[in-house]
Amino acid sequence: MKLKNFCFGLLAGTLAAGVFAAEPGIASLHGEKGVACEACHGPDKANPTEPTTATCTGCHDVKALVAKTAGVKPNNPHMSPHYQDQLDCTNCHRGHEESENFCNQCHDFDFKVK
Ligand code: HEC
Ligand code: HEC
Ligand code: HEC
Ligand code: HEC
Repeated sequence: MKLKNFCFGLLAGTLAAGVFAAEPGIASLHGEKGVACEACHGPDKANPTEPTTATCTGCHDVKALVAKTAGVKPNNPHMSPHYQDQLDCTNCHRGHEESENFCNQCHDFDFKVK
């Protein structure tokens, strides 16, 4: 994805105006916890980079995450027989749009994905 084609400044402006908090996806949830744009997109606002799974796991320890959601029914979303704990985070958790239940391409799991 060419992040450069998007207006980073405009989005940052909506943050200042308080519109950001109403946006779907995990970016606004992070904003509420004091995690800024740069934590996911790098320090250069003019050339933001797209976060990879490594970006996420820099803050979220995968083993701890798997343990924390071990009791989620009907299955742990962070551990599956197909992908183990290696599925890329953004298959489910989106930055600025509604998150998705990736497993439900094939299953019918009642997950609540933020
Ligand atoms: C928790 C990580 C995270 C934070 C914090 C975050 N973003 Fe993102 N952002 C993403 C992800 C992931 C994508 C890839 C597309 C998607 O999932 O929506 C993205 C995509 C983008 C894009 C590309 C256009 C698009 O929507 O696809 C822009 C521009 C952007 N973010 C701006 C910002 C700004 C400005 C902030 C701070 C107000 C911010 N982001 C905070 C994760 C984050
Ligand atoms: C700079 C550190 C940092 C980065 C990078 C980061 N997060 Fe987070 N994330 C946090 C903090 C802090 C919280 C709030 C406390 C918590 O729930 O652990 C959080 C919370 C979350 C939550 C729970 C939100 C809620 O309100 O329940 C999800 C889901 C999440 N992060 C996914 C991601 C994904 C996916 C990425 C990569 C695109 C990512 N995070 C990148 C620090 C980070
Ligand atoms: C298959 C979809 C899926 C993928 C892929 C996924 N998640 Fe999640 N995630 C979920 C669901 C569903 C929940 C809510 C679990 C629950 O009901 O408590 C969740 C919850 C979380 C939480 C909140 C945990 C808590 O209880 O505090 C964090 C943080 C998180 N995910 C981070 C990540 C990170 C980082 C990655 C990539 C390494 C990732 N997720 C990959 C579906 C997914
Ligand atoms: C591309 C299709 C597809 C996707 C996507 C998919 N699965 Fe599956 N999954 C299957 C198939 C096919 C089986 C075998 C069905 C069977 O034998 O019952 C299966 C079996 C399973 C089983 C074993 C069921 C049992 O009790 O034997 C679990 C657990 C599971 N999947 C979890 C997940 C999770 C969690 C995700 C998302 C992270 C996921 N799957 C994503 C197709 C998929």
